[in-house]
Amino acid sequence: MSDNVLSQFKQAEEAVKPADTGRKLRIGIIGTGGISWCHFYNYLKMPDVEIVAIADLIPERAIERKEQFGLDNVRIYPSHKELLDNEELDGVSVCTYHRQHAEPTIYALDKGVPVLLEKPFTVTLDEAVEVMRAEKRSGKFVSVGFQPRFNPNMQMIKKIVQSGVLGEIYYIQTGGGRRRGIPGGSFIEQSTAGIGAIGDIGCYSLDAVLNPLGYPKPLTVSGYVSDFFGKDPKYNGEDAKVFDVDDFGAAFVRLEGGIILDFRIAWAMHPDTPGDTIIFGKEGALRIPSTDCWNGSLDNAMTLYHDVCGEQVETRIPLLEEEKSDFYMKIRSFLDAIKTGGPSPVPTSEIIYNQAIIDGIVKSAKLGREIEIEIPEI
Ligand SMILES: NC(=O)c1ccc[n+]([C@@H]2O[C@H](COP(=O)([O-])OP(=O)(O)OC[C@H]3O[C@@H](n4cnc5c(N)ncnc54)[C@H](O)[C@@H]3O)[C@@H](O)[C@H]2O)c1
Repeated sequence: MSDNVLSQFKQAEEAVKPADTGRKLRIGIIGTGGISWCHFYNYLKMPDVEIVAIADLIPERAIERKEQFGLDNVRIYPSHKELLDNEELDGVSVCTYHRQHAEPTIYALDKGVPVLLEKPFTVTLDEAVEVMRAEKRSGKFVSVGFQPRFNPNMQMIKKIVQSGVLGEIYYIQTGGGRRRGIPGGSFIEQSTAGIGAIGDIGCYSLDAVLNPLGYPKPLTVSGYVSDFFGKDPKYNGEDAKVFDVDDFGAAFVRLEGGIILDFRIAWAMHPDTPGDTIIFGKEGALRIPSTDCWNGSLDNAMTLYHDVCGEQVETRIPLLEEEKSDFYMKIRSFLDAIKTGGPSPVPTSEIIYNQAIIDGIVKSAKLGREIEIEIPEI
């Protein structure tokens, strides 16, 4: 059991070597399904990058992307292994479904290639630990693809918490949802996804509040998951036949420092929201309003509740405009980290705690009781 993964991991992050910056960075993309479009689109905006190779288990998907983006010289491979065995890369995007996050990432690291890994980090905590072990032995980094981290509104949450205006934080309710918003394809089956709403959009809700707090370690979880909407053809049509992940999850989590985290996430539900995100501090509280279709970004002003000269007041925090898209910044931050040799913009040493909570929810829900979170030695 490791006491503090964040500090334990510093050494590996510091050991990363910078890439040669005198030429374009050679990038590969593994998995050319839905989200890969955003990776192609944003890499191609960068003057210092060439996409040299792509891979997909379904070759037509890779061919389609190659043609769509006019990438005449790009080589296509049938899986991550052939790509990484045959190419000299400076970095790779892993855009595969959740069950195929860990294996290609570990394979890339062992080949000495830094990875931009799509969210969620992995399916299980054990897989996340294996990825971190591969980072440690290779000296190369992984950045987890949480683009909301680059959104000025999400960054404002962190600024507010870290400014001390809320005082000591003792309780947080977080989560998000959609009345109807169950995805299809690889998101809804055990064999490809492994986890449903808790991983897909739950990881964003956890990061939105844990990142501002500096990722306190989770200690215990009492979790619940259900699948009432996903499995019901009335709400999910033909997909109900194959749906076998969660569409709703909730948890009560004890964090280091005596902080309580109350979490709810839904791909489908009857109410319009599972509640706003609220960070309770001894000197103030921050309300982050829920959105209709939670995907990790805000669409309304936040409110700060505090006292001034003995009076209870509210301060509206207006929405901030982003200069570049969050996705552009996610790709740019990965490339810059390759050039400088790290540190990782969204490091696994933080997101391991996010994954530990998701993993804890699954385990606790299965057992029907609270469990202790134990993170193996990296
Ligand atoms: N950051 C975001 O906003 C965002 C949005 C959507 C999806 N995602 C994440 O991106 C990931 C992919 O989502 P998607 O919608 O593109 O899924 P998808 O099913 O459309 O695409 C995944 C592709 O990966 C391929 N693949 C799987 N294993 C492979 C391997 N070992 N080698 C090569 N190809 C392999 C599959 O054949 C498939 O074409 C998911 O984990 C999802 O959570 C992130």
